[in-house]
Amino acid sequence: MKKFNIAIDGPAAAGKSTIAKLVAAELGMIYVDTGAMYRAITLAHLLQPKVDFETLVQKIDLKIVNENGQKIFLNGEDVSERIRDNDITLNVSHVASQKVVREKLVGIQQEMTIAKGIVMDGRDIGTYVIPDAELKIYMIASVTERAERRLLDNQQRGIEANFGDLMKDIERRDYIDMTREISPLVKAQDAIEIDTTGMTIEEVKNEIIQLANKIIA
Ligand code: C5P
Repeated sequence: MKKFNIAIDGPAAAGKSTIAKLVAAELGMIYVDTGAMYRAITLAHLLQPKVDFETLVQKIDLKIVNENGQKIFLNGEDVSERIRDNDITLNVSHVASQKVVREKLVGIQQEMTIAKGIVMDGRDIGTYVIPDAELKIYMIASVTERAERRLLDNQQRGIEANFGDLMKDIERRDYIDMTREISPLVKAQDAIEIDTTGMTIEEVKNEIIQLANKIIA
């Protein structure tokens, strides 16, 4: 079967990870969540706030294992769950706007895509990390619906959350991600936009599978 890459970008809590995981499983591809990498660096920064970003990324021991989903290890410790906590979510967009952080992570991400067969989700995947991805999706949804989904997700993970705070956090992160100097969140010219507001997970997944099938054919 022809090997190809799928780039999925979009604002916070648009459902990218959920969908990317399902699409990868159905097509026998590898799913890569780049947000988790920025979150892991944010955790390292919060643990050592006095260390400058350049030193932090030089010394960081980050391991990403992509088998049956993604696990992320920081200095040998599995931090896949820890990086979903509120303190990380609050600080991640600031950390992700640092040039040295982006250079380090984009390098790792590009290496992962060379052999193809990757479904990668993030903010700059179709525009910057894999500009030649065979399929690019730009996934959006209303802020209200995104906050509702995040609330449900947090409840399931046992993380305390309130709807108003989640709305504010989503808007604040979108603003930072869309206005930062280096590789801001924008829709790639050749990306296909899917507004998932009011759509079920199954519907969104099927739409992307149909688009992918056109590439395979
Ligand atoms: O996808 P997730 O919400 O976990 O991403 C967390 C944050 O990481 C985003 O709000 C954004 O600031 C940053 N990010 C990024 N570029 C990516 C993926 C995530 O800047 N490719």
